[in-house]
Amino acid sequence: MKKTIVLLPGDGIGPEVTRAAATVLRECATEFHHQFDFEEQPVGGAAIDVTATPLPNATLDACKRADAVFLGAVGGPKWDSLPVGKRPESGLLALRQAMGLYVNVRPVKVLEPLRGMSPLKPERLGDLDIEIVRELAGGIYFGERGNTTEGGKERAWDTESYSAQEVERIATFAYARSENRSRRLCSVDKANVLASSQLWRRTVTAMNAAYPSVKLEHMYVDNAAMQLTLKPSQFDVMLTSNMFGDILSDAAAALVGSIGLIPSASFGTGAPLFEPIHGSAPSLAGTDSANPIGSILSATMMLRDAFGLSLEADWIEQSVVRVLQAGHRTPDLAAPGSKAIGTNGFMEILHVEMQRTLEHAERYGWGV
Ligand code: IPM
Ligand code: MG
Repeated sequence: MKKTIVLLPGDGIGPEVTRAAATVLRECATEFHHQFDFEEQPVGGAAIDVTATPLPNATLDACKRADAVFLGAVGGPKWDSLPVGKRPESGLLALRQAMGLYVNVRPVKVLEPLRGMSPLKPERLGDLDIEIVRELAGGIYFGERGNTTEGGKERAWDTESYSAQEVERIATFAYARSENRSRRLCSVDKANVLASSQLWRRTVTAMNAAYPSVKLEHMYVDNAAMQLTLKPSQFDVMLTSNMFGDILSDAAAALVGSIGLIPSASFGTGAPLFEPIHGSAPSLAGTDSANPIGSILSATMMLRDAFGLSLEADWIEQSVVRVLQAGHRTPDLAAPGSKAIGTNGFMEILHVEMQRTLEHAERYGWGV
């Protein structure tokens, strides 16, 4: 298989975790005889520094031509004083919008060797394995906003707004995802307060007729946050808006041990984009302590969901679990006082485990 992958390392630990993702993709190409051509482009603060804009045209053009895009992370204190619209984060939002990426899937799953890392007691954690389907191209992130001065005092506003069509297209994806999982779909909104949430709930409910095998439930976001904390395994697919999805996915990530573990995939009208859900963690940048797992799992989502290479994805995921089974931990996962390994150390051990997993599969077959 021949594919062009655009890498957008971005800021902070973004370049380090992007390198990790590119390393496993390269190794995958070598072992399975694929051709992945990589092209690197600046985005976020790194792009502001060279072109004065967080999403240069050349970057967007490259992404539009690509088969898939990988993004590390954007943002950092250096650009914190810039206004909304000029910040590194605006580059990511503009990219999502320009690429028509309205679906964002964030799988949150307990990795067995890390079960003890959860802040929840084992009986509460259960077999947590959920997918948060976050609307990514609308809502308050892209609604009308502004600033004014009233009687010498400042006022600022942002607007949450959804059209029925925007809700339908993300719900279509979530229903399809539910049909391929346990057929339970929980739509999260704030329909007791927001008109946009009432439209959201009406639209999702009406669509249930077309997916009769899916058991639909609605939950207010405040209750959903509580239920995630009390009994997260009650959920399977959670469908929600752009902002609620941003918040709930960080909360869900904490339940499985670290935000550094969680990947994401975004789909829309053009090339799909893959990115870990963690931020740029500026304080960790350059210290060789970033957890590359969220990034590596974003690469395996690229292999499985964009290229249909599920065997290759399984291979890398099994190898990641083997590294953890052997007791290796990056600092975010290490128990206080215990020894941690760096990003580079993790990648070296992962390489060895990937080779071992391959040898094992050649001898005994996959999944044994
Ligand atoms: C995320 C991030 C982004 C978001 C930021 C960096 C703009 O928090 O992907 O969850 O809010 O979508
Ligand atoms: Mg976020």
